[in-house]
Amino acid sequence: EKGGYEHFMMKEIHEQPAAVRDTLSPRIKDGRIELSEISLDEETIRSVRRLYIIGCGSAYHVGVAARYVFESLARLPVEVDVASEFRYRNPVLEENSLAIIISQSGETADSLAALRECHARGVPTLGIVNVVGSSIAREADAVLYTWAGPEIAVATTKAYSTQLAAIYLLATEFGRVRGTLDEEQYARLVEELEALPGKIEKTLSDKERIQWFASKYAAAKDAFFIGRGLDYAVALEGSLKFKEISYIHSEAFAAGEMKHGPISLVEKGTLVVGVLTQPDLYEKTISNMVEAKSRGAFLMGLTTYGNYNIEDTAGFTVYVPRTDPHFATSLSVIPLQLLAYYVSCAKGLDVDKPRNLAKSVTVE
Ligand code: M6R
Repeated sequence: EKGGYEHFMMKEIHEQPAAVRDTLSPRIKDGRIELSEISLDEETIRSVRRLYIIGCGSAYHVGVAARYVFESLARLPVEVDVASEFRYRNPVLEENSLAIIISQSGETADSLAALRECHARGVPTLGIVNVVGSSIAREADAVLYTWAGPEIAVATTKAYSTQLAAIYLLATEFGRVRGTLDEEQYARLVEELEALPGKIEKTLSDKERIQWFASKYAAAKDAFFIGRGLDYAVALEGSLKFKEISYIHSEAFAAGEMKHGPISLVEKGTLVVGVLTQPDLYEKTISNMVEAKSRGAFLMGLTTYGNYNIEDTAGFTVYVPRTDPHFATSLSVIPLQLLAYYVSCAKGLDVDKPRNLAKSVTVE
């Protein structure tokens, strides 16, 4: 049942190229995105004034990435919130807005309650859901299914990746319809989307080096994940994965926030993982990494092939293939999943069923 792997998590990590392909390819025909299944006609897409994106845990982290992607590609204002906050904060919801509820299980209590709150206030909802026929899938006005297949490991990997893919489809299509992307940009983005599964596959081939590095850091007390923009979004996910299954205290910070407090936590040997896939933010994040290093941090860099000067700063570097920067999260998340996985294994922990956690959180 584990397909020859020792754990479901590793099996699911390896299923990502296929899961992302299965999510993207039925919705791309002859170089064009085809989303008629969600009955969002072009007029509705043009009239949307604001998006609310809601989820819990990793689904929320997809939302954080989605904010950058939608704002950049479709110039659409986006609010992202964790469901347990959204439902109780008496939010001011604009007319002509759309709520996107992201959930693997479709049964997360707070996410379902947030969806109902949207309906009670007259905001239409779109679910990005993996489990067919689940509560959120049934109650949402429209559903864009992720085709990740059953996910068993508590720490999500392939569901997260397919949720990102669903967001890319939507944001690229919104950009075309709203006129913020011209035909050439649109065609190039669609091409990049089609190339993503292959690039995820390639990223997975760097496993052994990460395993070696993980065995060295298995005894660490703390780890910090930093990045800017989409690299911050993936830092959040990398840090959650890490703490969930390795039981090492970890946090993610927007790199620019380091000097506003968190850097006081850096001691000799503290692991700081810097993510740098966004070309316009590269130098900025490097300078935050240098600051941490000068206070004793050990730096792991995660960047795109070609950025080899990072080796002047980082003690250990992992490279991912080049793609459009909007989609880089799909690649940078892979080494972070592997890092968490291998640290958990090195510590002999229960990778698939970490303590205190459940696969789906159906109580508040
Ligand atoms: O089923 P959902 O996507 O609604 O679940 C949301 C979170 O509980 C989930 O992403 C959780 O954070 C994972 N264990 C993360 O690996």
